Amino acid sequence: MKKILSVLGARPQFVKAAAVSRVIKNTKGLEECIVHTGQHFDANMSDIFFEEMDIPKPNYNLNINSLGHGAMTGRMLEGIEKILQKEKPDVVMIYGDTNSTIAGALAAKKLHIKVAHVEAGLRSYNIKMPEEVNRILTDRISDILFCPTETACSNLEKEGFDNFNIKIVQNGDVMQDAAMYYAKYSASKSNIIKTLGVKSYILGTIHRAENTDDPQRMKSIVNALNVISEKIEIVLPLHPRTKKILAKLNLDLNVKIIEPVGYFDMIELIKNSSLVITDSGGLQKEAFFFKKHCVTLRDETEWVELIENGYNILAGSNEDLIQTNIEKMLKKQSDFDQNLYGRGKASQLIAEELLKL
Ligand code: UD1
Repeated sequence: MKKILSVLGARPQFVKAAAVSRVIKNTKGLEECIVHTGQHFDANMSDIFFEEMDIPKPNYNLNINSLGHGAMTGRMLEGIEKILQKEKPDVVMIYGDTNSTIAGALAAKKLHIKVAHVEAGLRSYNIKMPEEVNRILTDRISDILFCPTETACSNLEKEGFDNFNIKIVQNGDVMQDAAMYYAKYSASKSNIIKTLGVKSYILGTIHRAENTDDPQRMKSIVNALNVISEKIEIVLPLHPRTKKILAKLNLDLNVKIIEPVGYFDMIELIKNSSLVITDSGGLQKEAFFFKKHCVTLRDETEWVELIENGYNILAGSNEDLIQTNIEKMLKKQSDFDQNLYGRGKASQLIAEELLKL
């Protein structure tokens, strides 16, 4: 029996882990132990995902959150190391690019435990982003890298990963697996569209540090959204990080602000929207999975295939560009039937590789 210890901490990781955990549970020869770092801790940032997506209850919760990068990552490292010494897993699995990801990878590597990184090889080439630092370091110390896209594999090749003793697998995107599986249930599980009483709207989210921690960018995004929302309603589940910053900067965001939502509500919000505007990585892909165009409030993205194929467009934080790109994308028609992310087999391929490790 191979023991997989998964380290999770932030919202998108719960979605990714839901897809993979379901497959691990059904695979003979694999067992999973889950460590929740506590990075996200509000009920609708964390618990709701475990409940509605039926993710096994974490075996450990470190309750580490609301700290600076150093303190957060450092305490996670210490906490995870203790658990690894006790649990002695065969493989530590980490997801994405958060502080929980790098903490899990580093703790395992120093104990000579194999590290599997899901959603590896992505790059924004903006090294100021904490996520970019986390990605690069995590990839370099992993033993197996599960890449969601062709671009992710070629990014690794460019960085010389062929010279390292690291297995690279292009398995597809586990978020697509989750979207395909849970979309079957979302309409019956979620009432959000009825409760909000919305018809024609844009779905928005903002939480990335590169926007929230730069007052100029934040002001410009808020101005753009305020102008757009006079013409078409904007529904915006507000991340706690952004909520704090808006209050601190005294900014009035005149859109339909709601609390962060769980996965089923999010699927329904995307499915029923006219367009998605976001600085989240996951939501850019989820828009595509549900055949919606996206305007990305960043200067670059890791999901370049969405840009290349015209499903997504970058607007940065420029007020005029945000407005013109929203207008452009609202009119656009696309065929969303391309296979960019593996069509729902990514988790199965991970389980097969884990058995071989
Ligand atoms: C983190 C990830 C980001 C990911 C995002 C998903 C890092 C460096 N960033 O950003 O890549 O896209 O998660 O949402 O790991 N907070 C609460 N309640 C919560 C969670 C957070 O109040 O449940 C507060 C924290 O106390 C903190 C702020 O929100 O003040 C930011 O949280 P943090 O985990 O540092 O970063 P995120 O912006 O969520």
